[in-house]
Amino acid sequence: MCGIVGYVGNRPATKILVEGLARLEYRGYDSAGLAVAHRKALRTTRAVGRVDDLRAAVGDDESPGRTGIAHTRWATHGEPSERNAHPHTDAAGRIAVVHNGILENADELRAKLAAEGVALRSDTDTEVLPHLVARALDGGSPSLEEAVREALRSVEGTYGLVVLDARHPEELVVARNGSPIVLGLGDGEMFVASDVAALVRHTRQVVFLADGEIATLTAAGYEGSRLGPPTTVDMDDADFDLDGHPDFLSKEIYEQPAALQRMLAGRLDARFATARLDGLHLDPRELRGIRRVTFLGCGSALYAGQIGAGLVEELARIPADAEQASEFRYRNPLVDPETLYVAVSQSGETIDTLAAVEELQRKGGRVVGVVNVIGSAIARQCGAGTFLHAGPEVSVASTKAFSSMVTSFALLALLLGRVRDLSSAHGSRLVEGLRRLPDAVETALESADEVEAVARRYADARSMFYLGRVRGAAVAREGAQKLKEISYVHAEAYAAAELKHGPLALIDAAMPSVVVIPDDELLSKNISTVEQIKARGGPVIAVTNAEIPDGLADAVIRVPRLEPELDPILLGVPLQLLAYHCARALGRDIDKPRNLAKSVTVE
Ligand code: G6P
Repeated sequence: MCGIVGYVGNRPATKILVEGLARLEYRGYDSAGLAVAHRKALRTTRAVGRVDDLRAAVGDDESPGRTGIAHTRWATHGEPSERNAHPHTDAAGRIAVVHNGILENADELRAKLAAEGVALRSDTDTEVLPHLVARALDGGSPSLEEAVREALRSVEGTYGLVVLDARHPEELVVARNGSPIVLGLGDGEMFVASDVAALVRHTRQVVFLADGEIATLTAAGYEGSRLGPPTTVDMDDADFDLDGHPDFLSKEIYEQPAALQRMLAGRLDARFATARLDGLHLDPRELRGIRRVTFLGCGSALYAGQIGAGLVEELARIPADAEQASEFRYRNPLVDPETLYVAVSQSGETIDTLAAVEELQRKGGRVVGVVNVIGSAIARQCGAGTFLHAGPEVSVASTKAFSSMVTSFALLALLLGRVRDLSSAHGSRLVEGLRRLPDAVETALESADEVEAVARRYADARSMFYLGRVRGAAVAREGAQKLKEISYVHAEAYAAAELKHGPLALIDAAMPSVVVIPDDELLSKNISTVEQIKARGGPVIAVTNAEIPDGLADAVIRVPRLEPELDPILLGVPLQLLAYHCARALGRDIDKPRNLAKSVTVE
């Protein structure tokens, strides 16, 4: 969840590092720092706050050094402060380290180092690393790589790290165990980062490190014993531009039609009224053998999974559920060989989801990934699944990846349904609906002005309810999540019928309710929910594709009708816009909400 950048080559490193960090800021943003080697000495600059604060701290006094490392931090060990910001160095100021992950035996190692007389200068787990590397070098390690290897032998935990030795500025050593590290291959220069976002400005040729790998980078290339061949990433720097939008969240909300188009490309089979998901590597017989589907994810990926479970039950008529990946890994789950487990993750790096995948695989479970970032840990660990192709999602709150996830589950449900009892007529209807989905999302986005007006009216609320039944219930959950994340307004999602079993007591004129009303067989029930709230003086915002009585709700936001199974995607769009415009009305930092990070790679 922190970001790492490193450079070795023949250009001054500082600018490259700072620009790279800016690309990674969405991974963590409470402090930042860099170290550049020049004339056998390190120049280290660290700052609390954003990458711009680091840029200001560097000022015009830039080191001419051509090798350096940098980091943007999201605090785990130790408060956000300059002394806790990375890079951390050894006592002599020779070795600098940037690190993502958590060293679990850091307290023990810190105590040992302190007992040996080492003065520790931060509260972090990371700081032990430069001291251990320096000690290994002093003890006669023949190379920096060997010294890093030796240091890593005494640590337990996860890391993606880059090490710089002031006396050997011609090289960087990188290592990975549980936190992503990717090398970028330049011409006479090498880059390293925790995320390809920081690399694509310079190169699209990358090498992903696997767990346990260590490599040495020089301007001429890289060496490591078990590195795979380079791959070409299919994104470029323009994918990380705002493209005229005030923030990435807005850009990503409006990119949804194009993202869904990419998700669906080549995956709709009109002839056989089914979906093609070749990446699952499951033949029809294996698909038929699946007795249950369990989705695993965190945050929005979990809510997407809940919608997916509904779709699988509805279309394939096999039991399906969605579970918090974080709970699954610790509760000694019953792993069933006839269940298809689906690990859902935009980043492909969420540690809880990754750990759930590993636990499943240890127990012989069959797990596929639904992931956006190609080359990510979950994608690699699963080895099979569906890529979302939503393009880079930079804003912390997920929008286009969420819609793409749900769309991919509609495809999965269709595929599972069609090897069972789903008729070809029903399949055709869905294939056609999915084909029209991107345009329908485009139309749903036209509600933006109305939603903005509603947001202005209700953004001052201290709390809001989000209510829905069945198809609308998971939509409500994700809607509430969006509002909490980016506007900091408390929101609680409820299955609408549960309202009268307690929460109705909270309804008054100051508590708006957002009611999700699909045009389905539960329409009249949802209308009576609205009436119950109105009778108690609560304001209601209805989000619907149904005909509802005039004057029923205080505000009505309409989305187009498509196929009922796809309602959750369309009804979700105004809820993204509502959260967005509430956050704007409240002047929030939309792309980087306080305390959150885009991908949570620590527990
Ligand atoms: C974090 C983000 C959420 C996201 C969740 C899962 O909590 O703030 O927006 O939904 O992680 O992320 P993933 O990359 O696994 O989908």
